[in-house]
Amino acid sequence: MRIMILHGPHPNLLGTREPEIYGSQTLEEVNQKLEKLATDLGVELRIAQSNVEGELVNLIQEAQKDCAGIVFNPAAYTHTSVALRDAISAVNLPTVEIHLSVPAAREDFRQVNLISDVVVGRVEGFGASSYEFGLRALTDYICAIP
Ligand code: DQA
Repeated sequence: MRIMILHGPHPNLLGTREPEIYGSQTLEEVNQKLEKLATDLGVELRIAQSNVEGELVNLIQEAQKDCAGIVFNPAAYTHTSVALRDAISAVNLPTVEIHLSVPAAREDFRQVNLISDVVVGRVEGFGASSYEFGLRALTDYICAIP
């Protein structure tokens, strides 16, 4: 079983971007931990990151061919992107929404979420561990599908 880990805009700056909010781990470190967890869970990962909305749409569409689900941090596009919302609905792959912070506890413009009603669940607020919890949860979710 293959799961896509999809990072939206800015995680490429993890470690240096507002570390008081997003922590000190780099994207490479986060991805390495996810690969180790995936080995323990017996799943394969495809990991991708893009700062470009249309590229994220393409990656979601491609995942439909050979992935069982998506662990996705849409980052700022969470609050603006009808295209990403539609992509998730269109491919009909179980998707877990990830945030390192708790967007609802932050600025007013982060109160809008265009993604949350098309995902199977959301993990937020645990820094980089949000991804690990999300991967565990999605694996359990997929394995429970009859
Ligand atoms: C984020 C939260 C978003 O509001 C923000 O735009 C991000 C990161 C998070 O992981 O906490 O870029 O998705």
